[in-house]
Amino acid sequence: MRVMSGSPWWRNAVIYQVYLRSFADGNGDGTGDIAGLRSRLSHIRSLGVDSIWINPWYRSPLRDGGYDVADYRSIDPRFGTMEEATEMIKEASELGLRTLLDLVPNHTSSVHRWFQEALSSPPGSPPRHRYHFRPGSGTDGTRPPNNWRSVFGGPAWTRVPDGEWYLHLFDASQPDLNWANGDVRAEFREIIRFWLDRGASGFRVDVANALDKDPLYPDVSSEQDHMIIAAEGADHPFWDRDFLHDVVREWRSVVDEYPGAMLIAEAWVSSWERLALYLRPDEYHQAFDFRFMLLPWDPEVMKEAIDTALAGAASVGSVPTWVLSNHDVVRHVTRYGLPSVPDARDWLLDGDRSLLDEEAGLSRGRAATLLMLALPGSAYLYQGEELGLPEVHDLPVEVLDDPVWDRSGHTEKGRDGCRVPIPWSKSGESFGFGSDGSWLPQPEGWGGLSAAAQEGVPGSTLELYRTALEVRRTHLSGDESLEWVESDPTVIAFRRGGDVTVLVNFGQSPIPIPQGRILFSSDDLPDGMLPADSAVWVARAP
Ligand code: BGC
Repeated sequence: MRVMSGSPWWRNAVIYQVYLRSFADGNGDGTGDIAGLRSRLSHIRSLGVDSIWINPWYRSPLRDGGYDVADYRSIDPRFGTMEEATEMIKEASELGLRTLLDLVPNHTSSVHRWFQEALSSPPGSPPRHRYHFRPGSGTDGTRPPNNWRSVFGGPAWTRVPDGEWYLHLFDASQPDLNWANGDVRAEFREIIRFWLDRGASGFRVDVANALDKDPLYPDVSSEQDHMIIAAEGADHPFWDRDFLHDVVREWRSVVDEYPGAMLIAEAWVSSWERLALYLRPDEYHQAFDFRFMLLPWDPEVMKEAIDTALAGAASVGSVPTWVLSNHDVVRHVTRYGLPSVPDARDWLLDGDRSLLDEEAGLSRGRAATLLMLALPGSAYLYQGEELGLPEVHDLPVEVLDDPVWDRSGHTEKGRDGCRVPIPWSKSGESFGFGSDGSWLPQPEGWGGLSAAAQEGVPGSTLELYRTALEVRRTHLSGDESLEWVESDPTVIAFRRGGDVTVLVNFGQSPIPIPQGRILFSSDDLPDGMLPADSAVWVARAP
């Protein structure tokens, strides 16, 4: 299928995710900020991406890295000021980069003025109705209202001094909003408008699949799952319920007033049939398909996931949105350097370190990037993956900041290992991240992976990303078709636009490369063959 002229910008875009706290520190307090981001916009521009997505930068106690918002219309002072934020959006736009923000509608921070008002108001009062307050169970109400569990571990309910309990699907500092409440609905329409008026091009919507809660608050049954990843469809008491789509339609009508603005859902749902519902014409423009991201380095399951995503998206006239890493998962070069069992997240805590093959992980990670960037649809890159940064798996537990560590009773190390500040220079204070340390410690050898160490170095991961994005633009942006090419089961091979053949070698030995002009490969090609754990793009010979 050819891309129609006038096709929306996001449909085949590449978007770069900025985890602001860890990107670049402009004021020397050890935390990344808007000043740091502005000083490094040229790096993002040089990659050749279309847009940035900034994780929450609003005023927040940062109990969950900013996903605990205290005021949706202000910038946290550690990140900068509102003036800097609007200047940043303008500067990015002058460089040809759009800015997407993160909308966090499922919960506020417990210090948000609404929650404080709810705490000082009696049970049953209107301020309490903006959240989910319930009496406890048991004869004296000392047990939680039901068996719901927090995604971060422990019960999803916390008791307040007057005896009621409030719901928090994440940390206790993140009370869930009640989307059956009119104030909540009106407020978010205005928040959306507020940021679009300041130049944002749209929002990534946090836990978009959790907004509605069953008003009867039944227990989660033994066949259902509490965890975000195992969403069960419309009959689950809090995941992926049908009513939430009403809310999305309201947001969409606001967004539609701003030409070019878009919404992308972070929706962990059980199937493409469910995900497709978020992509109906009056709902989200895009939705992340996380299945691909979660797979081991295995051609069969990856190919199947690609097929499912293409078919699912096509059923609603859309194309998939791909991602290999983000601020919530173990970085992909580390995942692919580990066997598929145990799960990389579990391995972080006390897994056998000898299981990690760093070299294979990096080769596979680079090949996976070439695979992803060759697929129809848009792709989201996570800061630092263009440097081939691995997960920092040996962070001492004393420095862990992710609430998952405490809430899981110290059984899960959490997500800090993918949030370690970016190394910009080969040496010096925090490798150029800032002038006075970094909020999470960087590994000693981090300078060798810095942007400065890779700049202009042929074959470096940074140059690989730049070239891949350039070749993608010139060869792959005019067409959305994908045709599988018959191949050995250890190979993924497909043709794009009838012109470019993409080959990924998952096997142990080098394989021949089809006739044509080699556009680009993730590794050297000794004897003209594609080595194990590598990918190549080949154009049809003229
Ligand atoms: C965000 C996480 C956050 C959670 C709660 C997620 O989906 O990506 O980083 O902890 O939502 O807001």
